Amino acid sequence: MGKKRITASTLQDMKDRNEKITMLTAYDYPTARLLDEAEIDCILVGDSLGNVILGYDNTLPVNMGEMLHHTRAVTRGVDHSLVIADMPFLAHKTGHGKAIRNAGRFIQEAEAEAVKVEGGSESLEPIEEIVDSGIPVMGHLGLTPQRILQFGGYRIQGKTPEKAKKILEDALKLEEVGVFSVVLESIPQELGKIITERLEIPTIGIGAGPHCDGQVLVLHDILGLSEISPKFVKEYEDLGSSLKEAAKSFQNEVKKSEFPTSKHSYNLEKGKLEKLKKFIEKTLKSDLLVL
Ligand code: KIV
Repeated sequence: MGKKRITASTLQDMKDRNEKITMLTAYDYPTARLLDEAEIDCILVGDSLGNVILGYDNTLPVNMGEMLHHTRAVTRGVDHSLVIADMPFLAHKTGHGKAIRNAGRFIQEAEAEAVKVEGGSESLEPIEEIVDSGIPVMGHLGLTPQRILQFGGYRIQGKTPEKAKKILEDALKLEEVGVFSVVLESIPQELGKIITERLEIPTIGIGAGPHCDGQVLVLHDILGLSEISPKFVKEYEDLGSSLKEAAKSFQNEVKKSEFPTSKHSYNLEKGKLEKLKKFIEKTLKSDLLVL
């Protein structure tokens, strides 16, 4: 029997028994399949899609159509991990009922099992609506990239007592309206620790220190496929260099006619080969071959 499917309540059980939670991003079928086989607990179809896959400068241009397209590809590859889809910029802010409609599309059209929504007190109402409609919601506080224009760049958040207090209060409010977990991004590790201790629900950190209940990173960052790499990223592989090397080898071998060899070509058995040769000769000689 395969491993049991992870759900939002599995994450709560993990926090309760002090077991760390893992989350990585994925945006396509083959990567999602491999992460699922590696038994990563949660797969986030992040709107980091904009930066690492679509080549945008930030996550702001990412739209529902793009997110749904990639979420569908991811869920096709997953049997065990919890798939969470990111609500893109403004998707929960576009008027009455739209937050539920957009969150619902991830569940009904793309088979995600939860959505992630950026923001604290200013996003509380739509988050509560989505939770009330029966869709599990993961919160996201600290450096929320959809506010980059207001933050003036990717800067560490919660450095002053007032700002740290606001993030803690927002985390408590999110818990109160029923989110099942909160991502904490780019905050001092001490703040990550306090929030993790004060909340009953699990915290998932990205640049929020080792005390969070779980850790998330963008897959392309840990594989050496990103153009920039923040301080909190650990590069586990340099697939960027491997990919370039493979492409260069292919280029050289084709240019020098070293690829393909007979090994990579279709070879017929002797009998069939003779028949085919005869047929080709006959066809070439006759007028049957009309070019
Ligand atoms: O979009 C994303 O990948 C995220 C993670 C960085 C948490 O929100």
